[in-house]
Amino acid sequence: MKHRSLLTAVLIAIVFPAIAPAGAQQASSPAGNVEHGKALYRETGCYECHGLAGQGAPMTGPRVSRTQLPLDAFLNQLRHPVNQMPPYEAAVLSDSDAADIYAYLEQIPAPPGPNSIPLLKLTR
Ligand code: HEC
Repeated sequence: MKHRSLLTAVLIAIVFPAIAPAGAQQASSPAGNVEHGKALYRETGCYECHGLAGQGAPMTGPRVSRTQLPLDAFLNQLRHPVNQMPPYEAAVLSDSDAADIYAYLEQIPAPPGPNSIPLLKLTR
């Protein structure tokens, strides 16, 4: 019995500190769903102008992968684009869906540097 209560005390000590920070973190920054964001990026047509990997193209739209914009500026761009980009109103794309796209774009890995690609290395 003594062992059992000790075990219970240890389990409580392990479980409770783990729950509290996780709950606090969720409240401050809702993590976007990367997989859902990836699907939405394709379904809503962002890729048509920004490229399948968010790499951008000179004639259609800038790079959006690894965007440096904070989430609220990103949302503002979707709701009130400044130039050629069509507006995506909340009725079409909710804030939460937009946050998922943002999460997807943020985690796209950077391309390899030109010096790591043998064919691109300058030979002298
Ligand atoms: C018809 C082409 C087109 C489509 C579709 C499009 N964009 Fe854009 N986007 C642009 C252009 C052009 C710009 C440059 C600024 C402008 O026109 O507002 C831009 C700018 C942006 C920027 C700002 C980039 C920066 O760093 O300044 C973000 C972020 C962005 N688009 C995200 C998206 C997302 C997410 C979608 C899909 C929901 C999307 N765009 C759909 C053309 C497009």
